[in-house]
Amino acid sequence: MSSPKQAILPGKTIGVLGGGQLGRMLAHAATRLGYRVHVYEPQAGCPAGAVAHKEVNAPYEDLAALADFARECDVVTYEFENVPSAPLQHIESLTALRPHGSVLATAQNRSREKRWLRDNGFPHARFAEVAADGDLEAGLREVGVPCVVKTADFGYDGKGQLKVMSEADVSAARKKFAGQPVVIEQFVDFACEVSAVVARSASAAVRVFPIAENIHANHILAFSIVPARVPAEVLAKAEKLARLIAERLDLVGVMGVEFFVTQSGDVLVNELAPRTHNSGHYTIDACMTSQFEQQVRAICGLPLGAVTLLSPVVMVNILGDAWKWDAEGKCVGEPNWDALLAQPNVRLHLYGKAEPRPGRKMGHFTVTARDADMAYEFAQKYLARL
Ligand SMILES: Nc1ncnc2c1ncn2[C@@H]1O[C@H](COP(=O)(O)OP(=O)(O)OP(=O)(O)O)[C@@H](O)[C@H]1O
Ligand SMILES: [Mg+2]
Repeated sequence: MSSPKQAILPGKTIGVLGGGQLGRMLAHAATRLGYRVHVYEPQAGCPAGAVAHKEVNAPYEDLAALADFARECDVVTYEFENVPSAPLQHIESLTALRPHGSVLATAQNRSREKRWLRDNGFPHARFAEVAADGDLEAGLREVGVPCVVKTADFGYDGKGQLKVMSEADVSAARKKFAGQPVVIEQFVDFACEVSAVVARSASAAVRVFPIAENIHANHILAFSIVPARVPAEVLAKAEKLARLIAERLDLVGVMGVEFFVTQSGDVLVNELAPRTHNSGHYTIDACMTSQFEQQVRAICGLPLGAVTLLSPVVMVNILGDAWKWDAEGKCVGEPNWDALLAQPNVRLHLYGKAEPRPGRKMGHFTVTARDADMAYEFAQKYLARL
């Protein structure tokens, strides 16, 4: 195998901060390549721990436990974005952390992320920052209505966001975000949303997976459609932006980049996630290399894998809503797996989470077909029958 001198070869140990489904699918890919996987996750019985060689349950602030964990790992990565920065620095002093802690520090805070995009000349929606004790109304005036107010920290799946569509919503925003630092973004009346998963190796090789078209429901990703049904120029812009962002951040690893495509075909960067991305799950079943294997390759200094699409595909998130619920909100039954598994063009992935909850990502399935439209039709039909 021709790989850089410092390559971390199969047999070595990969540490993962965070034990959710992204860590679980990383562990699947890593163990298939012969690596050992250790997972660090505050909550016991996590999806990734169940398929890893070792699971450590301790808070991220427990520097002694983190140090013990790091010493057993040849490289550490993260699948969870809200790891505080002090523990990351601690790990970085003990072993290889990839992507570098500075990448996470930029991406995990919306203010820093937006500022980084602006300072580096990447297209993005107009925004204003408001400090915890700042003047929300001044920020709203600066950006204008309609806009979206988002907490600077700890947002995911649309949590910690509020659309301000008219003056009538302003007081709700004031109440919801009182005392919290926020970013106020211009509301983008987008034609669609797309995303890229980009990988960059320690030797600066870059590969971008085929761009996905994303459809959200209630602020949570519902479908990713590949190839994205957008003009070739839009695909080219998104791919180029993802590549440039990975280079500018000195990324070593994989990163999801979310974009808004405007009515006039401009591509604006929405968010950066320096890890595998939900919209890249389709790669497991429909690409030569999955995003998780690519993550292993990138952080271990192996050659990056081919990102060739093997078939048009649609990925469908399975939320806890797909379980059967009674009027009191008690879970009373499983989704109809039989109907799904009977389909010849479906692959099902479940994350082993003990308890379904509405809005909770429990698994996903992929549907392949002759073209993207057809795959999307099948996907909607199969989801409705769950
Ligand atoms: N400025 C905006 N204009 C229009 N729609 C927006 C804007 N910001 C967010 N949205 C909508 O809300 C969704 C979630 O927003 P965003 O990606 O910022 O949040 P998040 O909570 O980090 O979500 P996730 O973790 O799922 O990516 C976007 O994908 C988009 O559909
Ligand atoms: Mg997002």
